[in-house]
Amino acid sequence: MRESYSYFQTPFRNAQVNRDSQVFGDLESRVSAAAPTLFSLGGDPLPSQKFSRKYLTRHKKSGQLWRRAVRITPGGVESNVRYFKPHPFLADYGDGGYIYDVDGNKILDLMMGFGALLLGHNNRDIALEVIKQLESGSMLGVTSELYIDYIQAVRKAVPSMKKVRLCNSGTEATMHALRTARAYTGRDKIAKAEGAYHGAHDYVLQSLDMDSRTASRMNGYRAIPYGRGIPKAVSDLVVIFPYNDIEATAAILEENEDEVGALIIEPVLCGPGVIAPKANYLRRLRQLTRKKGIVLIFDEVLTGFRLAYGGAQEYYDIRPDMTTFGKIAGGGFQLAGFGGEAQIMNVLEPGRGWKYATFHAGTYNGHPISVAAGLKGLEILGEHPEYYNHINGLGRQLYSGLQDLADDRRIPAWVEYVGSIGNVYFTTKDEIRNFRDTLSANTRRWWNWFIHCLGNNVLFGIPNTGERAFICTEHTEEDIEWALEVADNAFAAIGKEARRHKEKAPTVQLQAVGEQAAVYGDAPTPPSVERASRTA
Ligand SMILES: Cc1ncc(COP(=O)(O)O)c(C=O)c1O
Repeated sequence: MRESYSYFQTPFRNAQVNRDSQVFGDLESRVSAAAPTLFSLGGDPLPSQKFSRKYLTRHKKSGQLWRRAVRITPGGVESNVRYFKPHPFLADYGDGGYIYDVDGNKILDLMMGFGALLLGHNNRDIALEVIKQLESGSMLGVTSELYIDYIQAVRKAVPSMKKVRLCNSGTEATMHALRTARAYTGRDKIAKAEGAYHGAHDYVLQSLDMDSRTASRMNGYRAIPYGRGIPKAVSDLVVIFPYNDIEATAAILEENEDEVGALIIEPVLCGPGVIAPKANYLRRLRQLTRKKGIVLIFDEVLTGFRLAYGGAQEYYDIRPDMTTFGKIAGGGFQLAGFGGEAQIMNVLEPGRGWKYATFHAGTYNGHPISVAAGLKGLEILGEHPEYYNHINGLGRQLYSGLQDLADDRRIPAWVEYVGSIGNVYFTTKDEIRNFRDTLSANTRRWWNWFIHCLGNNVLFGIPNTGERAFICTEHTEEDIEWALEVADNAFAAIGKEARRHKEKAPTVQLQAVGEQAAVYGDAPTPPSVERASRTA
């Protein structure tokens, strides 16, 4: 692991550790001062107490801080995705492939800033570049040469983007890309895959997740808003298709002939975990959208600069019309963008006047600190193609290792991965092709496994069943060996619990998830029940 750096770490760490008594105090609302009940938020299953005991013991200070935070910010977190039960842990600092928390735990980080930190926490070269840029001003509000250099670096890595614009998040990138494509085609509808995540704006927060009952009752595919507050009028403009099923995708586009302006896709479907494209799906999608005059947008916010320097489009050798990017693009700072063929991007040309140009703006667009960090990150990756062999090799070691361990312990599981991104599904299926296949996974079992690993200081990716793990360039074979050891102990505990409950299990077939919970409480679902509930 890399040595720590002297330029800011000591005071920075102290500031982090000592602040807990001051930060929240003055801001607490009297109205909400009543302590929330622990375990009271969110819809995911609570991991069994047996599995979370060690985590809770090791995260007492995190628990205290979180209970204070929850009074003043919903769920005690900055983003819904950061919340998990029994409670999230609070970070102190990150270094290389590890994150250190306020309780003094050193945690192997396989989440890596939601995939943004390909070069690890606290990369020294990026940090120095940021410090250099700070001396020239943190925010200029005027275009600079740095911006041009950055766009050039992006174009070099991803040549399908002839013209590029920058923004601050993946959400903004997909929102603006979709508007640009709608303006270019003059069509209002957009198409997205069921289960795909493209950020947190209304157009794409559709059919992102649902329970198996809703899915099985649905006739075909329909846009279902993810959560409340999304107008039905927006859902009516969204066409949903199943990933990896080109015939169904073609039929659905046919039904909406001449209405769909843009089809946005995660080339590797990561909204519901990780699902690789199969049977030339992306290539056939390319042909289909071209034939129908639909702008094909590859959302590479997650895959960009990760699967390969040129992202999934280089990895699978497919050229989309437009691309969105973020995460790794900012070298750990907020930066995202979108780009594509010049004639499409030209609809943004401001000189035409407000009525004719498509609007894209943002006070912090192309923020110099982020651009300096991002440029350095891209330069490093461009100069080190071997980094991709390294992370993809570790990906093979980790994810195939997890599959072997689960198989050896006779735990029904499917580990899907592409390069350095992977996910464990506790399912009896031996192939995951689309979002609906993921509904077969036993979520309680996943949570028990995840929290058992975290209690032993391995953060196995984003804390959610439908999420995924990431590897960074700072991880080593030894790190992965250790992760596998911890994972194996968790598999063993899962197996033991399942056997115990199988012995105790009643012979009746349970039909509903609610009934399962009533009978088994916190215990993982025995396989017989799993099968019955899957058909419900
Ligand atoms: C494929 C994809 N698109 C868009 C987004 C949204 O990016 P952000 O969180 O920066 O808004 C994400 C975030 O995880 C993503 O994975």
